[in-house]
Amino acid sequence: MTEVSDHAAAPGPDHTDPVLKVHNLRKYFPVKSSGLLQRTLANVQAVDGVSFEIPQGSALGLVGESGCGKSTTGRLITRLHEPTSGSIEFEGRDMAKLKRRELLPLRREVQMIFQDPYSSLNPRHTVGAIIGTPLEVHNVVPKKKVLERVRELLEVVGLNPEHYNRYPSEFSGGQRQRIGIARALALQPKLLVADEPVSALDVSIQAQVVNLLQDVQKEFGIAFLFIAHDLAVVRHFCPEIAVMYLGKIVEIADRETLYNRPHHPYTQALLSAVPDVKQAAVGGRRDRIMLEGDVPSPINPPSGCRFRTRCSLAKEICAKVEPPLLQIGKRHKVACHFPGELGKHPETPITSRLLGVDESGNPDPGATPSPDLSDGPGFADTWVDLDRRTVAHG
Ligand SMILES: Nc1ncnc2c1ncn2[C@@H]1O[C@H](COP(=O)(O)OP(=O)(O)OP(=O)(O)O)[C@@H](O)[C@H]1O
Ligand code: SF4
Ligand SMILES: [Mg+2]
Repeated sequence: MTEVSDHAAAPGPDHTDPVLKVHNLRKYFPVKSSGLLQRTLANVQAVDGVSFEIPQGSALGLVGESGCGKSTTGRLITRLHEPTSGSIEFEGRDMAKLKRRELLPLRREVQMIFQDPYSSLNPRHTVGAIIGTPLEVHNVVPKKKVLERVRELLEVVGLNPEHYNRYPSEFSGGQRQRIGIARALALQPKLLVADEPVSALDVSIQAQVVNLLQDVQKEFGIAFLFIAHDLAVVRHFCPEIAVMYLGKIVEIADRETLYNRPHHPYTQALLSAVPDVKQAAVGGRRDRIMLEGDVPSPINPPSGCRFRTRCSLAKEICAKVEPPLLQIGKRHKVACHFPGELGKHPETPITSRLLGVDESGNPDPGATPSPDLSDGPGFADTWVDLDRRTVAHG
């Protein structure tokens, strides 16, 4: 990624109500036996208890390695997948509970841009039909005005409005992604899920498409869930970023905190691979933190902390107890027993008293677990002060 401008970055998350609130969202895909009696042998725990919110007109970045559940999260929000459990509140209504027919009006408001601009456009339809069909299906404009709106939309995304009768094969990858963006904008959505919208594009045009998305966001006030597999792409776009690992959010924070003071060992490793991030984020070191091995299978994830099989800091407690996603700053949550800036991770777990266990993760009969560890969406006015290990107030 080069030359992404900061001029149209999304507004900060502080001032508006959330357009989307996701709480404890789960998606398990059953693995069935072959034969007639298809029994469920196991479950792929693709998304396992994810919570976040997106303020109106703002943007949340969702990053993580391949297979960590980013696309599944996006597809749950657009209801291309049915959630196994959890809630997806869009403007105060729980979409997870709505029936197909009740969903139709909401579908207009939540649109998706897909990663692959080649397979996401029907090659047998003209650009005019691709962008115009949703306008007709949802009765957005009278039939005789559809072509006029298609031309306007092509212009908005920087394409020649007279090319409405051409086919996708007559366009380059970047131009096709612009067509995908025009299609998503046609219904004037309030939320756009952009699933790696530039990963399949040539590096030289990635920045142009990201800039277009930023301009569109600013002009139409659309909120974004911007999915990417590395932290470089979302940096300029998103005021808040969530890092996912094996179906769970492990760290979520405002941009400044996440890039300059990440506290989760996984975020620190991901950031060390981003060439142009301020070196403060990785303790002033230029060394890349190599992540050993592959992401484990989401069918049988590691006990306790799912990252422990690849974490150089892992201790006994990490295998026994799952770390809660704990708020440790005004807009900063982290799921680690030993959170800290690189090289400053605490010696003893910060979570043991809250969880009612000893330092090794064994139940502590004298301790009372904190009842207030619920991992809700958004941020509270109080959080755990890491230095004093007490509750701090905003
Ligand atoms: N329809 C499905 N049936 C069964 N398993 C699935 C299905 N869709 C996704 N998965 C599994 O769920 C896990 C999460 O997949 P997902 O596509 O959400 O990851 P991702 O973070 O988007 O990865 P990538 O960066 O490769 O796009 C993977 O292990 C994947 O194999
Ligand atoms: S909980 Fe333990 S294994 Fe997990 S990230 Fe923190 S130190 Fe590493
Ligand atoms: Mg994906």
